[in-house]
Amino acid sequence: MNKILVTGGAGFLGSHLCERLVMEGRDVLCVDNYFTGTKHNVVQLLRSPRFELMRHDITFPLYVEVDQIYNLACPASPIHYQFDPVQTTKVSVHGAINMLGLAKRVKARILQASTSEVYGDPEVHPQTESYWGRVNPLGPRACYDEGKRCAETLFFDYYRQHQLDIKVVRIFNTYGPRMHPNDGRVVSNFIVQALRGENITIYGKGNQTRSFCYVDDLIDGLVRMMDTQRGFTGPVNLGNPGELSILELAEQVLRLTRSKSRIRFKPLPKDDPRQRCPDITLAGKQLKWRPKMALDDGLKETIRYFRRALRR
Ligand SMILES: NC(=O)c1ccc[n+]([C@@H]2O[C@H](COP(=O)([O-])OP(=O)(O)OC[C@H]3O[C@@H](n4cnc5c(N)ncnc54)[C@H](O)[C@@H]3O)[C@@H](O)[C@H]2O)c1
Repeated sequence: MNKILVTGGAGFLGSHLCERLVMEGRDVLCVDNYFTGTKHNVVQLLRSPRFELMRHDITFPLYVEVDQIYNLACPASPIHYQFDPVQTTKVSVHGAINMLGLAKRVKARILQASTSEVYGDPEVHPQTESYWGRVNPLGPRACYDEGKRCAETLFFDYYRQHQLDIKVVRIFNTYGPRMHPNDGRVVSNFIVQALRGENITIYGKGNQTRSFCYVDDLIDGLVRMMDTQRGFTGPVNLGNPGELSILELAEQVLRLTRSKSRIRFKPLPKDDPRQRCPDITLAGKQLKWRPKMALDDGLKETIRYFRRALRR
């Protein structure tokens, strides 16, 4: 199991995954169309003979010989996925069909990076994998939420119909170095605003809760899931169950950056979930996985990254 394709490999999570796999001595083919990712994220890997970078849009078929596929290609933040919603659905659905077709042809194991957004604005808390979700199919987030739901459906149909070796993980909010500085995600937003001395914007009253997983922990979960025995398909939640309010996060970022920024409140956007927290019992049992990085330490690493990135 040595040749590994990572779609979306030049993005935030993808670049950390490529790094981890190359470090483990695997041959990695990173495929990306650079919609939100950059070559800069993987430049340190280009020196390795184990690493190859290919510009390709996965809404078009791809013919390569690989043993495993991590399908991560898809813009992940609302600002990016709502920029071209039709393309977002295409990446999720056509992209999944193309990658599943490839996996079928070369008999590769394939892992789908799904999302907690498949749970929508949940009535069940915390969310277990058996919860079917509450997604508005007509709203501005639907291109992503429904696209990812349809991709999961395709994965399970390929499993039932073609006996494909599939794995599905549902990723909850993840943060860390190489997040996009302007993607509007709450951790990067707060850190960038605090470092620039700008007002910190909170949408709503700030009492909506989120949970944040550090990127290294998440990548460890992805690799563990890929290495589970054939027939264990998931879906498996991967995230950090430590829940805190958006207001608490803003205060923590202000403290760690020693910023003089002030907090400003703005109206809540449409379909913004009130609560989001994973139940990771299944990941604990099947993958022997749980996140290790404390939020304070992860935020410090991320702040260090953004201090350097903003100077570039
Ligand atoms: N980061 C999170 O908190 C989070 C949470 C849930 C799910 N996910 C999922 O994990 C995956 C990676 O997310 P991320 O945070 O690294 O986002 P990202 O935007 O940094 O990475 C996505 C990558 O996919 C590439 N891409 C987009 N469309 C493509 C296409 N048509 N063909 C080839 N490449 C394409 C982008 O250029 C980018 O490099 C996504 O599928 C996302 O839905 C992430």
